[in-house]
Amino acid sequence: MAKKVTVVGAGFYGSTTALRLAEYNIFDEVVLTDIVEGKPEGLALDMNQSRSIEGFETKITGATTTAEGAGYEKTANSDVVVITAGLPRKPGMSRMDLIGVNAGIVRGVAENIAKHSPNAVIIVVSNPLDEMTALAQLATNFPKNRVMGQAGMLDTARFTNFVAEKLGVEVGSVKTLTLGSHGDTMVPVPSRCTVNGDPLSEKLSQTEIDELVDRTRNGGAEVVALLKTGSAYYAPSAAAARMAKAVIEDSGAVMPVCAWVDGEYGISGVYLGVEAEIGKSGIRKVVESKLTDGEVASLKAAAEAVRAKQADVKDM
Ligand code: LAC
Repeated sequence: MAKKVTVVGAGFYGSTTALRLAEYNIFDEVVLTDIVEGKPEGLALDMNQSRSIEGFETKITGATTTAEGAGYEKTANSDVVVITAGLPRKPGMSRMDLIGVNAGIVRGVAENIAKHSPNAVIIVVSNPLDEMTALAQLATNFPKNRVMGQAGMLDTARFTNFVAEKLGVEVGSVKTLTLGSHGDTMVPVPSRCTVNGDPLSEKLSQTEIDELVDRTRNGGAEVVALLKTGSAYYAPSAAAARMAKAVIEDSGAVMPVCAWVDGEYGISGVYLGVEAEIGKSGIRKVVESKLTDGEVASLKAAAEAVRAKQADVKDM
């Protein structure tokens, strides 16, 4: 069966994700959509012309869409859909400042996607992430395992990078983990952070670790403040593309993602950043790992913080 992925939104995040997915050379088709007429078609044309140089056969299709649903037929029967639609932050904004405007956009997109790709796995990256993931599930009415959000992979990658730079070691020797929300209640998990297998706490002081955690929590804002006109997309797209790859390959890879939590860690009924096993059904299962009491308490606090906001999106 032909393998097809759609990326909704041809901004920097969406177009970079589409190119990464195409360069994996594991999909038959990558569809890139946008409401700006001609933009997705133009980008697709350009990407297709890079195929012989980079050596991949995946075909990229551009599709201009409207809020009313025109153009979505080109996305039909996608196996995976990455939703990047919505506005990014400007300097000084929090992700939550985007909730009003992005809720309308994400709801419309999710409804159109559900119509044309009723069996797709959806990966949401629009902000505020945890809330937009919950909203996409409501708008599609898909089973909760088939809707997830990208955040933990990105936050973890940022944390790993900061630790590697601080210690002057290879990123490959560093393992970190962040759970919770993609925002103020991001939960770093020091008990799962290692450098060449040794606990991070043996390499850095608590103050140093706290500084890097803080920088990670503000990792998106730090990039926004420098760019001034938009938010990060190289690391975010790398994370989203890896999730889509795990779905299409039915790999069972365990990744930190925003998933529906139903009993794990004593938390229920909320989309939250946790580790999960990813396959063609989306979230195969949430992987509950051994955390310290303090880490579980932080995760519970994060769940309560996002729960209230997620309830609000019902009416948005
Ligand atoms: C970030 C945005 C994409 O963290 O949420 O960079």
